[in-house]
Amino acid sequence: MADIKRIFQVDGQPFFPLGGQAKNSSGYNRAEAETAFRALREMHGNTLEIPVYWEQVEPVEGTFVFDGVADLLALAGEYRCKLVLLWFATWKNGDMDYAPGWVKADQQRFRRVINPLGVPIWGLSPYCQANRDADANALAHLMGYLKEHDRERSVIAVQVENEPGTLWSDRDYAPEAEAIFQAPVPQDLVEAIAAAPESPVHAAWQMASAKKQGNWPELFGRYAGEYMNAWAICRYIDHITGCAKAVYDLPMYVNVWLAEQFFRLAGDYPSGGAVSPVLDIWLWTKKHLDLIAPDIYIPYTAGYRQICANYTRPDNPLFVPESGSMGPNAWQMMYAIGEYNAIGYASFGIEHILDDEGAVVPAAQQAVESFRAVAEAIPLLLQYQGTDRIHAIAQEENQSEQFLDLEGWYGVVTFGYGTPGFVGRDWRHATSGNRRVLDATLPRGRGLLFQADRNTFYLVGGAYQLHLCRKGSWGSMASFTMLRDFHLDRQGHFVTVDEGHFEEGAFVVDRRRNGDEIDHGAWVEPDIRVLRVVMSD
Ligand code: DGJ
Repeated sequence: MADIKRIFQVDGQPFFPLGGQAKNSSGYNRAEAETAFRALREMHGNTLEIPVYWEQVEPVEGTFVFDGVADLLALAGEYRCKLVLLWFATWKNGDMDYAPGWVKADQQRFRRVINPLGVPIWGLSPYCQANRDADANALAHLMGYLKEHDRERSVIAVQVENEPGTLWSDRDYAPEAEAIFQAPVPQDLVEAIAAAPESPVHAAWQMASAKKQGNWPELFGRYAGEYMNAWAICRYIDHITGCAKAVYDLPMYVNVWLAEQFFRLAGDYPSGGAVSPVLDIWLWTKKHLDLIAPDIYIPYTAGYRQICANYTRPDNPLFVPESGSMGPNAWQMMYAIGEYNAIGYASFGIEHILDDEGAVVPAAQQAVESFRAVAEAIPLLLQYQGTDRIHAIAQEENQSEQFLDLEGWYGVVTFGYGTPGFVGRDWRHATSGNRRVLDATLPRGRGLLFQADRNTFYLVGGAYQLHLCRKGSWGSMASFTMLRDFHLDRQGHFVTVDEGHFEEGAFVVDRRRNGDEIDHGAWVEPDIRVLRVVMSD
């Protein structure tokens, strides 16, 4: 049993934000934003992530304009959804595009990062207090506006900056930063590193020096620039977060442009961002930030799951604020949510799931249905995440079945709309003949299985069937494996199989199944909402 640190709340109750992030320019005005809200509704999401821009809220230093934020609050009320506001300010994908013109214009006061060649780059320095304090002041004003005007409490969290870090250099080489680089590494950080033998930072420190005192290059060798930048950027953003929380204490987090995705050297990805190799420096340094969240665009499952594992920590629950387009997400999201207990999940740029008429495009249909399935399961997620009672179901390439070791039962999930012979679905879902798993036109089997108690299961998702065989029956696993298909389903007998949904936490039956429709396992499609299966002893 893992204690899930649920940072998101609505009306004082744990909340599972599910949905999408708008595209970068959608937050500028109502017309731009409306499509994102419509897309959220079509994907059965409950939370929209959308930017708020420093350049827009403070066009002139000290003059604050929140008309755009007012529009977002109004739209959230109309669409009855929650918001996570993305504070695009000092950093956006490692650069300073969203800083106001008056900041961009004054390089003396608002210092840029200096690269190793002594050239200023398009990025505000995290070692410049004027940058930090101007950013903090603007965000504090935004928080003050929200505290007073967000009466529906639509905004449930704020992402502070976006994919922070330094592109095109591992650190700032200006004199101010150089002085820190050559000064002793803070002792509390050294002690934390020395006490964490499992950390990649500890390994790098051991390889470079294993010294307990010294400056950054003395202790960390070739990692020194990125490590100092991670420490400095975390302190910068954490300070801004503390100032913002002091005005209006909402959950606040940072997101991460991952190193594992295409980019390998600090500076190729934003150096100092909380990538896996330096995540511990962020977790040891932060005091106000609630969590560190990876933007997962890795389209292959092994890489995707590794990132989930890296960012799922007792001191850092997994939250996925951005994930790939509505392609592999359809089944990969089940790993993050069912296996790694993600406390929230969003896909990036959701406007593209709609066609010109506002309907979901075919290419996004499968993923939209996966989001719908997860949305139906939220009461179960809030109850069972952190226990061993949730199982992610995901059909990988050419996978025809998935084995589940359950309490009291062996489970076999079959994909591909059943096995040879009778398909056993009702008239709505009957498919023409036996469309096998290798048929590339078939949707991927994916979903979530919840074992509420020894004989009660809840299923959501699509394109799969669950077959159960009681442990201890037929003597051994061998017979179970041999007895496939028709006989397999004669080994576990249903008391009831009900399609339904949750209302106020209670399961409401919409439709009962029996006879032909249960003879070949408990089959699941998104439009049935939730399937409750009660097995007989
Ligand atoms: C990740 C960023 O956080 C988003 O704002 C956007 O730029 C996407 N990348 C584009 O893939």
